[in-house]
Amino acid sequence: MGKRFKYGVYGLGRIGKVHAAIVQEQGHQIVALGDDEPAAVVAAQEELNAGAVKTFNDPTRMAHEMAGVIDAMIIASHTKNHAKDALPFVQTRIPIYLEKPLTDDLQESFAFVEAIGRDPHQIQIGLQRRYDPALLHTKKLIQSGLIGEIREIRCILRDQFPPPPTYSSRGLIVDMGIHVADEAIVLLDEFPSEVWASVHHTRAYSSPIDEGGDTAFVTFTTPSQVLGRLDLSRTHASGYNNETYIIGARGTIHTGRFAGYPGPIHVEVWQPDGTRHPESKIFEMANPKGKYPEFLPRFDNAYRHAHQQFRAEIESGTAFAVTQNEILDAQVFVEAAHRSAERGGVHYRLQRFGNLREYRAACIANGLMDSD
Ligand SMILES: NC(=O)c1ccc[n+]([C@@H]2O[C@H](COP(=O)([O-])OP(=O)(O)OC[C@H]3O[C@@H](n4cnc5c(N)ncnc54)[C@H](O)[C@@H]3O)[C@@H](O)[C@H]2O)c1
Repeated sequence: MGKRFKYGVYGLGRIGKVHAAIVQEQGHQIVALGDDEPAAVVAAQEELNAGAVKTFNDPTRMAHEMAGVIDAMIIASHTKNHAKDALPFVQTRIPIYLEKPLTDDLQESFAFVEAIGRDPHQIQIGLQRRYDPALLHTKKLIQSGLIGEIREIRCILRDQFPPPPTYSSRGLIVDMGIHVADEAIVLLDEFPSEVWASVHHTRAYSSPIDEGGDTAFVTFTTPSQVLGRLDLSRTHASGYNNETYIIGARGTIHTGRFAGYPGPIHVEVWQPDGTRHPESKIFEMANPKGKYPEFLPRFDNAYRHAHQQFRAEIESGTAFAVTQNEILDAQVFVEAAHRSAERGGVHYRLQRFGNLREYRAACIANGLMDSD
């Protein structure tokens, strides 16, 4: 193991505590905890056995008092607060593991990236699919050319349960869609050119929060003519469900067909003669004990890899693999889908640019943001 890190954590709901417990188990120390809600801090101190740490209810104070003391921050507050909570830590040059999305508003996302710049050494975003062994294997198979040119991709993310009453979400597509929007961009190595979407209320579902619907379908095309679809819902009553189909001209890859929860994660490669290719593999989910958030078994491994990588990159000075830059792209994608669903499925054109001024101008021209 490398150096023992001293961490601060701001945002102590479900996932904040998951991240804190993982880094503790990996041999690192939590030295400061914070949340806007004092009760969340107290609950986390108990659960993490961290009674003696410094506590905060204000990220700016935490950043100033802990600068020079902590090596890294984990920020997992409400989505709408991510950018505002992260900024003081960026300004005090503390590396941050920041939960997705960047914020829930595209205008604010651009303003944040403009404020901190494109430097990829500041923030690693919590898009854990980037570190997931089954999806990394899937990406390797696509890159090897095994299934030929990709015709179609379908990324499915279905929760089993509604979010907790504490949760805040601007909408299903922005909140949960960002995971699979990024997954599609990574697997295809392409940014969508056109997006349209619908959001629905299905029967017999009730949620403590209003996020505009419980099920959404996002359709997109890419410059190379791939047809894509993101299926999102909070209603998969038999367990948390993450699947990806990639249909190529010479075969299909199906990652994560539902096989029980927690259960095996199949990466199946199907050949034109209808048989399974030997590169097919099975990955295992974690099997946590006691009470746990529903996403933990599927992604425990990915979170662990993401934290290891985060620390290794801080120590070596290497750029983080998923930063404010990559999530801005996913954020543009989901903004288009969210707006389309609100406007009866109208089609939005998408473009991305390395230059932020051009990127912002294109988003305004494409109807994704108001002009400033
Ligand atoms: N990467 C992932 O797999 C993943 C999974 C879940 C959530 N997230 C993201 O992480 C962020 C936080 O999500 P979450 O699921 O942890 O939300 P959450 O509702 O559990 O917590 C959010 C906030 O609610 C308040 N809260 C929670 N429990 C409380 C308590 N016992 N007492 C008082 N206040 C309490 C706190 O202010 C807390 O910061 C969101 O941006 C979400 O999009 C990511």
